[in-house]
Amino acid sequence: MIGWCFCGSFCTLSKCIDELGLLSEKEEILPIISDSVSSISSRFGTPDEFISRISAITKKDPLKTIGSCEVIGPKNFLSALIVAPCTGNTLAKIANGVTDTAVTMAVKAHLRNSKPLVIALASNDAMSANFKNLASLAERKNVYFVPLAQDDPRGKPTSLVADFTKIRETLDMAMQGVQIRPLFL
Ligand SMILES: Cc1cc2nc3c(=O)[nH]c(=O)nc-3n(C[C@H](O)[C@H](O)[C@H](O)COP(=O)(O)O)c2cc1C
Repeated sequence: MIGWCFCGSFCTLSKCIDELGLLSEKEEILPIISDSVSSISSRFGTPDEFISRISAITKKDPLKTIGSCEVIGPKNFLSALIVAPCTGNTLAKIANGVTDTAVTMAVKAHLRNSKPLVIALASNDAMSANFKNLASLAERKNVYFVPLAQDDPRGKPTSLVADFTKIRETLDMAMQGVQIRPLFL
């Protein structure tokens, strides 16, 4: 089984759910959502809309709490964990060992089992406040990044967004211990 964590990058959630649908055709997937996804309504949709789509695809209610995600460590049932979309907020927490959400708990629990973590970042501060966190995780064992591109180099000069269509290829290579390249598109 593959774990799939969703964070509050609301403009990219729908694209990631499309990719979830494709991966679910060949893998059983355990969905996990952050507090933001379960509580914030925005112009991109409501929590109910996102959760309904995720549940319909995976046939599971997403895990939403630190308590429900802790078992990922001791029960060791995930072969890989995907965080897509990953916010700058969650990236910073993962890089610095902060575990105060369902997603960061799932990541911490999963990494203790030395299996691949695949991160698809989408953040306006990816090349400012979060650049050091990206760099630090890029060289961490068992952590793999979905290739990133500057989505609006003039309007949002420090923004990077993963190419979500490459999540499955990144995962396949991560399962063989290889970081997909090029990392920057
Ligand atoms: C409409 C909306 C869109 C957002 N888009 C992003 C985004 O694309 N990337 C990002 O890093 N944060 C984005 N944020 C901010 C995060 O939702 C915020 O940092 C939140 O605390 C993230 O929590 P999480 O990482 O636990 O999901 C957005 C917030 C809102 C309200």
